[in-house]
Amino acid sequence: MPLEMYDSNKSSSGVQHVIAIAAGKGGVGKSTITVNIALALKQQGYAVGILDADIYGPSVRMMLPEDRMPSQKGESIMPALCQGIRMISMAYFRKEHEAAAVRAPIANNVINQFIKQVNWGPLDFLLIDFPPGTGDIQLTLSQQASLTGAVMVTTPQEISLLDVRKAIHLFQQVQIPVIGVIENMSYFLDPVTQHKHYLFGKDGGSKLAQESGVPLLGNIPIDPVIGQCGDEGVSLFAKAHVAQSTLTSFSETANKIAKHAHALKENAHQALSQFELIWKEMTV
Ligand SMILES: Nc1ncnc2c1ncn2[C@@H]1O[C@H](COP(=O)(O)OP(=O)(O)OP(=O)(O)O)[C@@H](O)[C@H]1O
Ligand SMILES: [Mg+2]
Repeated sequence: MPLEMYDSNKSSSGVQHVIAIAAGKGGVGKSTITVNIALALKQQGYAVGILDADIYGPSVRMMLPEDRMPSQKGESIMPALCQGIRMISMAYFRKEHEAAAVRAPIANNVINQFIKQVNWGPLDFLLIDFPPGTGDIQLTLSQQASLTGAVMVTTPQEISLLDVRKAIHLFQQVQIPVIGVIENMSYFLDPVTQHKHYLFGKDGGSKLAQESGVPLLGNIPIDPVIGQCGDEGVSLFAKAHVAQSTLTSFSETANKIAKHAHALKENAHQALSQFELIWKEMTV
């Protein structure tokens, strides 16, 4: 949906799919994946928002600088606008380089405000960049944010897979479907020989996906340009001389997320109408 159709008076119920981008483990690339999948979905014509749920270490603002700051309108918070993507983050509410030294209940309050008071307008996808770990904030988000499902990010290493398994368990416990697994830092593609070097091991992501009974959504290569774009606050899709394989890895993964999210919603609708049918038959 083009941005011109953004109607600030519409409520946040106009959000089609709320998707958690989670890992359990820190530093595996959750924020990087969130930003680039958001940009890829935007490129495909979807209206996209990002909720940066990392209260203590919000990094998405740096990766995607704002063209318009968030604002308050009555009880509602209007999100920032960053290259056509709507965004909310703790980073807008404290000075740069200032640590958010808040206790857990306050952090939970902030997350609750982000969930309930942000007026996103109509969105196809709201991506939630989860903080690392499986603590209080993750539980609040899982229970309150009406998630369509969760996308799990891992690197191929066993140490990452171990934590992601725990996070998958958390989502299953609160009955949130796991949409699939993204393996980040899968390989380094030698630009000269086009040979793939599997620096952190091979197939960890696909094994995890298989054992959890969910799809592998994509393999994102290690590419220094990905890190540079994040540090400079420049879109990978606007940067010159980015390897086509890097861009394709994000756009194909975004495609798969969209496809699986639509299918999940469709299945939920069908289950609901079947339930209604059975209920009506039982009560006549
Ligand atoms: N595919 C990649 N290629 C190159 N660098 C990457 C890639 N993915 C992530 N990085 C870099 O790795 C670092 C960690 O990434 P990021 O901050 O996205 O991880 P995170 O899981 O969100 O971390 P945290 O748990 O602290 O929130 C960043 O410097 C980022 O630029
Ligand atoms: Mg992060």
